[in-house]
Amino acid sequence: MLLTGIRLEQYRNLAVAELQPSHQMTLLYGLNGQGKTNLLEAIYLLGTGRSFRSVKTPDLIRQGMDTALVTGQVRTGGVTSEIKVQLAGKQRRVTVDGKPVQRAAELHGKLAAVVFSPDDTAMVKQGPETRRRYLDRALYTSNAVFLRDYHEYYHTLKQRNALLRSGATAGLDVWTEQLVASGNRLMEHRRQYVAQLLPLVHEHYQQIAGSRETVKLSYAPDSDHCFREQLEQCRATDLRRGITGHGPHRDDLVFEIDGQPLKTFGSQGQQRSFVLALKLAELDHLQQTFGEPPLILLDDIASELDRERIHNLLELLRQRQVQVVMTTTTTVGIDPGMLQQSSVYRVDAGTLTYEGSVPR
Ligand SMILES: Nc1ncnc2c1ncn2[C@@H]1O[C@H](COP(=O)(O)OP(=O)(O)O)[C@@H](O)[C@H]1O
Ligand SMILES: [Mg+2]
Repeated sequence: MLLTGIRLEQYRNLAVAELQPSHQMTLLYGLNGQGKTNLLEAIYLLGTGRSFRSVKTPDLIRQGMDTALVTGQVRTGGVTSEIKVQLAGKQRRVTVDGKPVQRAAELHGKLAAVVFSPDDTAMVKQGPETRRRYLDRALYTSNAVFLRDYHEYYHTLKQRNALLRSGATAGLDVWTEQLVASGNRLMEHRRQYVAQLLPLVHEHYQQIAGSRETVKLSYAPDSDHCFREQLEQCRATDLRRGITGHGPHRDDLVFEIDGQPLKTFGSQGQQRSFVLALKLAELDHLQQTFGEPPLILLDDIASELDRERIHNLLELLRQRQVQVVMTTTTTVGIDPGMLQQSSVYRVDAGTLTYEGSVPR
């Protein structure tokens, strides 16, 4: 998968910006608050129709403007297509080659992207919700069916909760049955995905950390035996509280190092290595799924990894022929050989200046 061009109009602090990413590496550098992450976010938006930051659509539109537009050319399986994402108020409209995309699944597999940002490292220390959101986002990138089951579960949950709040019991069994059906499918997606990722995470961690620690990623469903039974047991409590107390909306993802929780037992460096290993596992998994590597977006990489680890990471991505777009506050410290092979853009107060590259 390749992004060969992207144009942003009125997207966050970028009035108009055009970028022709290198097939290998593109470097965006500039001081803090200039629009580097916004650019990565727009690239991600092209692939999924949504942001990787948890924000509402109107926040993506430049202040004082009514609409924003992101247009990109992508090449997948030898086929070039043009994706347009138009934002207007709360509305998002996506077209591929001029044809409106009705369901997110139609966009699927055109431009899969994996993001590695400081926010990802933070997920180790945060609550289950952040990790659940990460898991679902990763799953969604690789599996179009997942999204349908995901929406069905959360839609049903909302209906069931509304009924519980009203105190009515008529119809509760019907909603419970539907919640069990979609909930079981949702849990199965998550279980299978984590099982596929686990050996890949383990392998990448050993490479990155260069150590023999054993890391483990596991899925911790809130409902670990029978979801239907659990809902039946909690019926009275749910009715009293007016909310569904248990289910996949309470699931977690557990990270361990040598059998201990990564959150408390792992050093900062180990936590970062773990999350990077997780991201590379995601990359492997997407490559297996689509038969070509996804794009990788590295945000503020120098704040996350030391020079040697950055070098090793970029070298690995180069060998794998992964297209990389990365941001940094300075080009100092980046291997000059690496810089020479990249397209370099300076980002300054929402404007983008091309500073050169070598032939592709
Ligand atoms: N909707 C918006 N309209 C205008 N400016 C915005 C909007 N959303 C964010 N910004 C601005 O974008 C800047 C942050 O950009 P960001 O890409 O996160 O910076 P960085 O270069 O540090 O990654 C901030 O100055 C913020 O005020
Ligand atoms: Mg940033």
